[in-house]
Amino acid sequence: MTLTALGNLLTVTYLWIKAGHVIFVIFWIAGLFMLPRFYVYHQESAPGSAEERRWIDRERKLRNIIITPAMILVWIFGLTLAWQIGLFSGSPGLGWLHLKLLLVVGLSGYHGWMVSYGKKLARGERPTSGKALRLMNEIPGIATAAIVVLVIVKPF
Ligand code: HEM
Repeated sequence: MTLTALGNLLTVTYLWIKAGHVIFVIFWIAGLFMLPRFYVYHQESAPGSAEERRWIDRERKLRNIIITPAMILVWIFGLTLAWQIGLFSGSPGLGWLHLKLLLVVGLSGYHGWMVSYGKKLARGERPTSGKALRLMNEIPGIATAAIVVLVIVKPF
């Protein structure tokens, strides 16, 4: 294989991996927007009611089928891209990626907190108010805006 052919192969693979990355970013973030909403509606249902059981089931499915697998795939695709553009070999000019990673680690922590909150709800606990959950629902939106600016504009 010539060097040009190898270069082309890497470029094509890179774009497919980037497409996969963005597809699962959409699934993950869409799910992260929905989950606290579900919790708000859940907390408005009567404890022990059939409606509460339906919310527990919907929340579990959203977590287990959509957001947790999507988050894992975003990380796998994202780290592969980062490796290809030289994050692990110290390439210069990747300040935007370092800050992005910091934000994504925070977003993954938010994800973990939301998953554990859902497990508490399923046990019948309701430790946080609906208002606080609504406020927390802003976090993934703000983080997404900052991450997209970093990855598209690459300001540093
Ligand atoms: C989980 C850790 C993540 C890593 C390691 C990572 C890494 C990367 C890398 C290296 C690129 C390629 C940039 C380029 O080709 O110029 C990329 C593209 C992208 N990432 Fe991520 N990313 C992660 C998570 C996320 C998240 C959570 C979002 C959105 C909320 C996101 C949104 C995007 C977008 C929109 C692009 C495409 C930008 C473009 O080239 O047009 N990423 N990511």
